[in-house]
Amino acid sequence: MLPLSISAAVLVATLGIAAAAGSPDTDSTLLQHRHSFFSTLPVEPSDENFRVGRHQVKVIDLTGFREWEVKGSLHGLLQVAGKTTSEGESQGDVSGKVHVQWFDSKAPLLRPPFIPTYIPGFHMAITSDDFAKAWKENCPVISDLIGSVDCREITGEGTPLERIHNTLRAEDLTVIYKHHYLHKTTDPAGFLSSSSAVSSLISQQQAGSTPGPALIDLVLHKGEITLKVIWATGTNNNDNKDGDKSQQNAIGISFNEKTDKVVEVGWFYREITEQDYSVYDHYLGAIVKMDREGEEVNEAMIQTRSPVFPPHRRDFSTGNIRAYGHGFNSTMTPSQSFHPHSVTTIRSNPNIQETTAGCDLHVLQVLPAGYFVDPFQLEGLAPEIGESTVFGETDLEKPVGVVAGWGSLVMVKAQPEESVKTSKWTPHNITNIDTKGVKTDAVSYTSVVDIPMHMRYQPPIEQGNPATHVTVETPWPIVAWVCPVATTNGEESAALNAAAKKLFHIPALPFSLLFPRDAKTDRETVDFRFILPDPIPKQFPTAQMSVPVGRLDDMNLVRAATFAMAGAGTLAVALALVRTVAGRTSGKGKQD
Ligand SMILES: *[C@@H]1O[C@H](CO)[C@@H](O)[C@H](O)[C@H]1NC(C)=O
Ligand SMILES: *[C@@H]1O[C@H](CO)[C@@H](O)[C@H](O)[C@H]1NC(C)=O
Repeated sequence: MLPLSISAAVLVATLGIAAAAGSPDTDSTLLQHRHSFFSTLPVEPSDENFRVGRHQVKVIDLTGFREWEVKGSLHGLLQVAGKTTSEGESQGDVSGKVHVQWFDSKAPLLRPPFIPTYIPGFHMAITSDDFAKAWKENCPVISDLIGSVDCREITGEGTPLERIHNTLRAEDLTVIYKHHYLHKTTDPAGFLSSSSAVSSLISQQQAGSTPGPALIDLVLHKGEITLKVIWATGTNNNDNKDGDKSQQNAIGISFNEKTDKVVEVGWFYREITEQDYSVYDHYLGAIVKMDREGEEVNEAMIQTRSPVFPPHRRDFSTGNIRAYGHGFNSTMTPSQSFHPHSVTTIRSNPNIQETTAGCDLHVLQVLPAGYFVDPFQLEGLAPEIGESTVFGETDLEKPVGVVAGWGSLVMVKAQPEESVKTSKWTPHNITNIDTKGVKTDAVSYTSVVDIPMHMRYQPPIEQGNPATHVTVETPWPIVAWVCPVATTNGEESAALNAAAKKLFHIPALPFSLLFPRDAKTDRETVDFRFILPDPIPKQFPTAQMSVPVGRLDDMNLVRAATFAMAGAGTLAVALALVRTVAGRTSGKGKQD
């Protein structure tokens, strides 16, 4: 075992890396694997935590996050998952790219080096020059991988009942540049059903009683699949120190001579060095490489700039800020209105040249169907808040149940350095207290980005239900500085950055779609540097809005709803819809 003598035992990671370029892969069932584990640990890891045996590494009792990755051909992956396919079938559209991402709304917020700001729910993006073709060819493949997708021809039509039924349909995707994108706050029907390949692979990897995955990220590109899964591990066992530690938190990673070429398992401490607010992250640890020959242990170090700005450092007992970092909070105000404002207060430090030079501050709001924005209103407000980009449904006449798809995206490039903007940086005199108790005066900056929103009419509810309002939840926005890819320190730094990204970086949908990727390498052309919600929540935070609901005895609303559903035809369909919706929302109904 290597001496792992690094001061701050913050994160420990274990990962295995696929044999990238090995001998030509003749057997398509061969999968290339990568495993990884990230953990905070109260103590340094020791031989107790890692046991290396013949073709096996056992990781015991680590608390934190675990990442597992599998890479291989679509055909091979389906076979390993127990889905037999005949050659030539289920190949998908090789020119297009499918990206599916799912983040559990109840999952603990991830910690760096993972991006902690994933919008909860189901996301799908299809990138292709010919969407109709890509959808037709990829749809059955997606269905095999993740469960049911409605693969019928694109008709542009669809009854409200079909929309309510939570299937994935081509019509529901929104065009974003050359992508088609969809977000659902609830799982689509049949998602990860037991017959799906991804669910079968995940259950093969899930260690004993671990809770389900926090994040699933699946990319199908040119016939190759990359699947990454992140679990929170060992989070519940902290207070059970002296009990029976049996095998509950043990995860074994082994080399299988039949299916593997090389499996690498590694673990890392995260060491953070702060200098003038710049944060340098080093990931130090060791890697065990397993192949047919046996095991090989090596020290490892990955050096990269953190994709996440340091949050405020707070006093442990009072919660007061001792040293100012970066953070944001967000609210919908007033809390009961048809025309609320999304108000995001960002605290950051724009005057750190190395950190934010050439970068722009972006606020991305992913709105459910209950909300819409008026692009013309936002255009008029550009001199005040900054340029905005809007994708998705902005038709203000449509009530919720009739809106195609899922809602909309609103991204504001805040540019608060321009002093004419209402979102301009406001300086505050502050005092930082360092770990030794030494006080230093400094300046901290806040910017307030205020985006006017509008609420859609909620579907009317049945007679006899006393609810007058429903609560519409919206995830807080993603707030990030978007910077040119770091090239300042030359080739070497760029290569390190790329290597680190390969290990740690899972692009957050839909954020990554809004910025171009390199056509040749398919790499991002920008670096994202995220600001964390403040105070750091346990789960991704949401804003609540209470919206009045129509009543069936309110004739005007019934008329409006019936008019909007004209395509649906008969009153019977309308009534069935009303009942379905009422059944689904009445539980959330709120009286005031
Ligand atoms: C949001 O952040 C600002 C600046 O840090 C702070 O003044 C404000 O009280 C916060 N609002 C809430 C609701 O926490
Ligand atoms: C901050 O302190 C400086 C002097 O050190 C003072 O001129 C300035 O007005 C103060 N700003 C605020 C916002 O209090």
